[in-house]
Amino acid sequence: MPTALIVLAAGQGTRMNSDLPKVLHPLGGVALFLHAVNSGMGLDPEQIVLVTGHGSDAVASAAEKHGLDAHIALQTEQLGTAHAVAQAQVALANFTGDALVLYGDTPFIKSDTLHRMAEARRAGHDVVILGFKAADPGRYGRLLMQRDSLEKIVEFKDATDEERHINLCNSGVVLAPASVMFDLVNSVGNDNASGEYYLTDIVGLARAKGLSATAVICDESETLGINSRPELASAEVIFQNRARAEALENGATLIAPDTVFLSLDTQLGRDCTVEPNVIFGPGVTVETGATIRSFSHLEGCHVGGGAIVGPYARLRPGAELSNDAKVGNFVEIKNATIGEGAKVSHLSYIGDASIGDGANIGAGTVTCNYNGFEKFRTEIGARAFIGSDTMLVAPVTIGAEAMTASGSVITRDVPDGALALGRAQQETKPGAARRLFDMYKKAKENRRKEA
Ligand code: UD1
Ligand code: CA
Repeated sequence: MPTALIVLAAGQGTRMNSDLPKVLHPLGGVALFLHAVNSGMGLDPEQIVLVTGHGSDAVASAAEKHGLDAHIALQTEQLGTAHAVAQAQVALANFTGDALVLYGDTPFIKSDTLHRMAEARRAGHDVVILGFKAADPGRYGRLLMQRDSLEKIVEFKDATDEERHINLCNSGVVLAPASVMFDLVNSVGNDNASGEYYLTDIVGLARAKGLSATAVICDESETLGINSRPELASAEVIFQNRARAEALENGATLIAPDTVFLSLDTQLGRDCTVEPNVIFGPGVTVETGATIRSFSHLEGCHVGGGAIVGPYARLRPGAELSNDAKVGNFVEIKNATIGEGAKVSHLSYIGDASIGDGANIGAGTVTCNYNGFEKFRTEIGARAFIGSDTMLVAPVTIGAEAMTASGSVITRDVPDGALALGRAQQETKPGAARRLFDMYKKAKENRRKEA
């Protein structure tokens, strides 16, 4: 059955005490709502609708930046969860299939759990709700079941004392045919304790129409929602522990897992080693057998098999390390390709560049890529040898097997196999150092006598 995701992300999240809409706060290196989207991806959705309100443009651009092809449905006033879902109807006008409602502030629903909901649909239930047994049911909506038939959801505020004793609660996740979902939400009213249009009312309405409804039960930990900064901080701990466990499961070595920070999309290949204190920002792939040494910071980059990075290296977006490349301590790489087996071992900045296979970049080399207005590229050929402290003033090309002398400022292209020297001539004056030292020493003594 084709599926569409409807992700509710319109709330401001007042309790975050923030100018940033709640769903844009980062968790595991990416905006919070992308975690819900990521869970939904497990059902291979045909369409994704983000229901936005507060900070709608910012949410839309975060989605786009993440490469997400989503419709944005603006909910100008937050009149309740049913009203929010109704905003997706236009975007899904031509969609025939199931609609899955997820909350942008609920990041830990497992794809497996969503598959179990899809199974309940296949078993013939029209409306499937995701429920959980709450240790402390608090203010959650309560599920009123008769055997495996879900008869009604009652919100805490509207519940009787007896209903409040039920510990089977509503997570908010709903799966139903899109046509049924929209029919039902359109008939929801707001005559209740909150004066809101409750999505939960669709269950009672469905039953009244003779449709069937049921609940799939998941672990309470999956339904954790984020409402405040302390909750976000706890969620980060949970996320990191899961991501570390998954990396280990997939065959990576983490020497001190608790000190390694991963993003939602971090991919660590089999038999790669990550030393203590490494941060993986979004968009990092590390291939088999690579080593990331301590205190390195990586984002938006690709590290080839067997490559060695760090300690103390920084790989910024667009850094592409081929197999067996080496990027050593205090080296920054940005938007640059490092060829197979090439080495940038110490204290260098390589930006907007390509470095050929087997090239060696000496300590302190800088690609001078920016003139204050525009950026320019540096191309270095295979097996070239860049002497220590070379300034490569881009745009500039260094040929294959060419060499630059240490301390050179290179402003013009160097052909294959050539040696370029771009530094002042050395002059040596015998005995001059000793004469200078004597002069300085006497000058200091004279000043002391005068004082
Ligand atoms: C909702 C459920 C409740 C359930 C709980 C689980 C309803 C009526 N109640 O209550 O049964 O136990 O979730 O956490 O659905 N949102 C919008 N637009 C709106 C209203 C909400 O986008 O007009 C978004 C919010 O930003 C949030 C999510 O929907 O991400 C849930 O809304 P919220 O008001 O927090 O629902 P609860 O009161 O927690
Ligand atoms: Ca609420």
